[in-house]
Amino acid sequence: MDLNFQKNFSLRSYNTFGINVQSKQFIGVKNTEELQYVLRHKKNEKTLILGGGSNLLLTEDFEGLTVRIESKGIQIIEENEKFATVKVAAGENWHEFVLWCLENDLGGVENLALIPGSVGAAPIQNIGAYGVELKSVFLSCEAIAIDNGTTMIFDKAGCQFGYRNSIFKNQLKGQYIITSVNFLLNKAPHTINASYKGLREKMEKKNKTIQNVAKAVIAIRSEKLPDPKEIGNSGSFFKNPVITEAQFKNLQNQYPNIPHYPDNASKIKIPAAWMIDTLGLKGFRNGDAGIHKNQALVLVNYGNATGKDINALAEKIQSEVAKKFGVNLTAEVNII
Ligand code: EPU
Repeated sequence: MDLNFQKNFSLRSYNTFGINVQSKQFIGVKNTEELQYVLRHKKNEKTLILGGGSNLLLTEDFEGLTVRIESKGIQIIEENEKFATVKVAAGENWHEFVLWCLENDLGGVENLALIPGSVGAAPIQNIGAYGVELKSVFLSCEAIAIDNGTTMIFDKAGCQFGYRNSIFKNQLKGQYIITSVNFLLNKAPHTINASYKGLREKMEKKNKTIQNVAKAVIAIRSEKLPDPKEIGNSGSFFKNPVITEAQFKNLQNQYPNIPHYPDNASKIKIPAAWMIDTLGLKGFRNGDAGIHKNQALVLVNYGNATGKDINALAEKIQSEVAKKFGVNLTAEVNII
């Protein structure tokens, strides 16, 4: 197989933070056969699997082989009058897939418009936004075992989805590469989900179509979240912490206006952005590493920040939040 392995390859344009680290070797693969070939022939190399590079912070040069998944293809593989099952290659861009769904009037992913990243990476952290998570449209995915190249199908239960979480971030971390995802999408008439604060207001005077929901989500995201093409970033840097009712009551006594949402099993989720904002850190900048001026949960690279600079800023935030609120923030992005 004629594959072009590159040496000492800069990953700058392959991670949305725009961090300039080198990978000892780099290869882009266009299909499962190429991926299996690479895994067989580079068995002893340390590997970094890259999709859209939108959920990682690279803190040092990578002394191994970076494999970028570049497979393409979207097809309806089954349908009836209500649903369509759509198979999407892992290397497809997530937002392009959302646009394809809107053109084909297939509902379910419109709230997830404009999320950066690839389709293959979406199940790993069960991407979510504006009241919808990937798991609500997920049917199954196909994955390749890194150690022996065999194919495995994971259904929804097998993925153990949680809030920004799945089996691929836990027991199976670093063991599988997702090569395609099957989605179960709805045909018209659509039920839309516009109850999320901000989205509801934008949808008030609009026709309740999936296309209008996507438009409203795109407008909200563009107002608040920096475009990675303009300012390096990886979306929300931390997960929103989930705390016990007792912890919450304690915080609410001190901060009566603390925003909060019910979570599972009498736990409460509070926005990390609110805590960072309350600390007065929104818009904070140290060299080229900063906290975005419109959304305190988003760390940004203004140009030449290193991964270590961003990580140091993240640690500063974690320690200040712990000191003031007694809450531990965990990173949502993968720090490598
Ligand atoms: N808030 C502030 N200051 C800020 C921003 C927000 O106080 O600078 C408070 C406000 O009270 C606001 C609340 O935090 O109502 C929630 O803010 P927002 O709706 O912007 O959402 P978020 O909790 O910060 C989460 C996801 C985002 C997703 C949005 C919308 C996580 C870690 N992040 O952010 O996902 O787009 O909700 O659904 O759950 C991502 O994962 O990368 C991501 C961008």
